[in-house]
Amino acid sequence: MFITFEGGEGAGKSTQARALAQALRARGRKVTTTREPGGTPEGEALRALLLGPGSRWGAMEEALLLFAARRVHVERVIRPALARGEVVVCDRFTDSTRAYQGHAGDLGPEAVEALDRLVLQGFGPDLTFVLDLPVEAAFARIHGGNGDRFEGRALAFHEALRRGYRAVAASFPERCALVNAAQDPDALAAEILTLALKRLGPARGG
Ligand code: TYD
Repeated sequence: MFITFEGGEGAGKSTQARALAQALRARGRKVTTTREPGGTPEGEALRALLLGPGSRWGAMEEALLLFAARRVHVERVIRPALARGEVVVCDRFTDSTRAYQGHAGDLGPEAVEALDRLVLQGFGPDLTFVLDLPVEAAFARIHGGNGDRFEGRALAFHEALRRGYRAVAASFPERCALVNAAQDPDALAAEILTLALKRLGPARGG
């Protein structure tokens, strides 16, 4: 089972992804955790290119680089782990491209779907947690963050991003769970674990 975490900056994705992985391991599941952009040496190199200081890519170029990294990530890390029967928990995946480049950027949703079909050929998560947080709350949380290129963007971009993620969740309702990231992190983790366990069913051999 392939589980992804999505949301804007400051929503607490990484914390929640870690918490879910830990809780599943405590229940006897084998879990691979990974992230995008990244997840392989090639992906980490592209991450540095994308997010590094002075990088100035358009949304199309970003999407092309992201899908290049994603393809290698799927083939070398995600599919092999799934084939071993593991749960894969990934911090960001194609929905990030849908929301950032497709909705908030100027690429448009159709171009992202076209790339997705071409590059991943139908491969995608079984379950996605979309962490939804009002933009003002997100800004308060990331204040004092590392200030990378994406985090430094204008408020309007983050508003568009939030709308984009909500549109993604509405477009893929059977896969996406839109959860309230403004609540207490432990309560959110409990909600996420309950939903994940429901999808996973009883653990094989424990
Ligand atoms: P990261 O430091 O991992 O941020 P976060 O903790 O919020 O995940 O930076 C990843 C940045 O890359 C983030 O701003 C979102 C952006 N991104 C895209 O724009 N499109 C994508 O497809 C992905 C995977 C990430």
